[in-house]
Amino acid sequence: MRRSREVHLVSRPTGRLPAPGDVKMVEVAVPAPAPGQVVVRNLYMSIDPGLLLRMNDLSKVDIPDFQPGEAMWSDAIGEVVESEDDRLSAGDFVWHRFGFRDYVVEDAGEFRRVDPERYPSLTHHLCFGQTAYVGTHVAQIQQGDTFWVSSAAGGVGTMAGQIARLRGATRVIGSAGTPEKAAYLRDTLGFDVAFDYHDGFRQHLDGLDVYYDNVGGTHLEAAIDALKPRGRIVMGGGMQEIRTGVPQGPRNILAVIGKRLSLLGYYTFDHTDLFPEFDERFPRWVRSGEIIVAETIVDGLENGVTAAVNLLNGVYTGKVVLRI
Ligand SMILES: NC(=O)c1ccc[n+]([C@@H]2O[C@H](COP(=O)([O-])OP(=O)(O)OC[C@H]3O[C@@H](n4cnc5c(N)ncnc54)[C@H](OP(=O)(O)O)[C@@H]3O)[C@@H](O)[C@H]2O)c1
Repeated sequence: MRRSREVHLVSRPTGRLPAPGDVKMVEVAVPAPAPGQVVVRNLYMSIDPGLLLRMNDLSKVDIPDFQPGEAMWSDAIGEVVESEDDRLSAGDFVWHRFGFRDYVVEDAGEFRRVDPERYPSLTHHLCFGQTAYVGTHVAQIQQGDTFWVSSAAGGVGTMAGQIARLRGATRVIGSAGTPEKAAYLRDTLGFDVAFDYHDGFRQHLDGLDVYYDNVGGTHLEAAIDALKPRGRIVMGGGMQEIRTGVPQGPRNILAVIGKRLSLLGYYTFDHTDLFPEFDERFPRWVRSGEIIVAETIVDGLENGVTAAVNLLNGVYTGKVVLRI
């Protein structure tokens, strides 16, 4: 009989970041699939800041937080190894949300078949192109816009800057936590301006039409100062508060009224109507080289939680994917 390792939440972290005792690896027997079920062997899973929010019961969106005593979950790509349902066959590759384990046995309807030829790599099915496609749509980018994305060297940020350009932004600005990340944005991804936010903001942000916020706090405050009248802010994440636990700013919120700015939060899965056009356009952009999928691959299920902590500490560039 197959055996599967699963990462379980033991207790919610008491500090900001999970400590080793907050999770444990549990080995379980993999049951035979019942009629209508499939057995999937996981290959890759997403490491993203949402994991920390779900550990702390803070995700604030309509997806389940992790429960102590249960396996955690994450977006994942796996291969069907046994099927008791006509919709999927052994050898199919599938996207699903049962990461943090070697094998999963669930109803076939819980899995979405993916075409392994769609992208140069299976891992690209986990990239945040779809999120950035939605966010840049919500931002209503106009031809000629000056566009700034924060946490620009991350999973969402690397995609948002490149997609904003394809949607018509003519000046793409990115901020990140190190000079090396800034150089990567400029030299490899073609951002017009990229800077280390530790050196300050204002000198880099003239004539801003759109701010794509992954950070909040002091970054959002800088955007409110720099945006042109009627500028747009699209907010997808809040890394400053997620990382530090300290809600901050913006202290200049009244300028939103004075400048008639708009601030729009978005959640990717509210915009399923955009997914068909994304599925048509994004793979084409990747295959043609118009979009580079930046990613860091980390090995080993046992390293998943450490990788999540490293991600929050800015260790990686691009989308972080765990090879299981
Ligand atoms: N709304 C949605 O549907 C949706 C979907 C997916 C993700 N998100 C959100 O989007 C945001 C980005 O997600 P991601 O997966 O792409 O993460 P990410 O940007 O790849 O990773 C997090 C990065 O945040 C930066 N960071 C950490 N602490 C910071 C601080 N105090 N100030 C500024 N930057 C800090 C670090 O980069 P540096 O080295 O540059 O500091 C780190 O690499 C997250 O808030 C996530 O929750 C939203």
